[in-house]
Amino acid sequence: MNVCVVVAAAIVVDGRLLLAQRRRPAALDGLWELPGGKVEPGETPTDALRRELREELDIETEAGERIGVEVPLADGLVLRAYLTEIVSGIPRALDHAAIGWFSAAELPAVDLVPNDRMWLPDLERALRAS
Ligand code: CDP
Repeated sequence: MNVCVVVAAAIVVDGRLLLAQRRRPAALDGLWELPGGKVEPGETPTDALRRELREELDIETEAGERIGVEVPLADGLVLRAYLTEIVSGIPRALDHAAIGWFSAAELPAVDLVPNDRMWLPDLERALRAS
């Protein structure tokens, strides 16, 4: 039932995590998230992540290990994050208001979307280990 999954990417380069700043919906406007989106029918979760990152950030990527717990969302959706490598391209915000790169020390002060706050300890650990 891949249609029920939302995938998100934890991209770490040089000890910094890429986050993207949402524009919508109004309740999340200005908050930062791991980029990603809904798995569409016929896609695997990692296919969907590759597509979303191409559409949103203009990069080619390869999903690796899962990171953090699966977070239940409204409407039967679940949110899942993958450690993800950039294969080619330089990320730029095609859909978000902005992108930013954040160190482990900076991360706790970032205004993350509420769901992604669940992953804070995992993300800090991944950054410190990188
Ligand atoms: O772009 P698409 O409609 O495929 O997905 P989205 O609107 O970006 O995300 C679907 C749902 O997952 C929304 O409720 C988002 O707020 C949520 N989401 C999240 O909580 N954290 C993320 N890192 C990505 C999405």
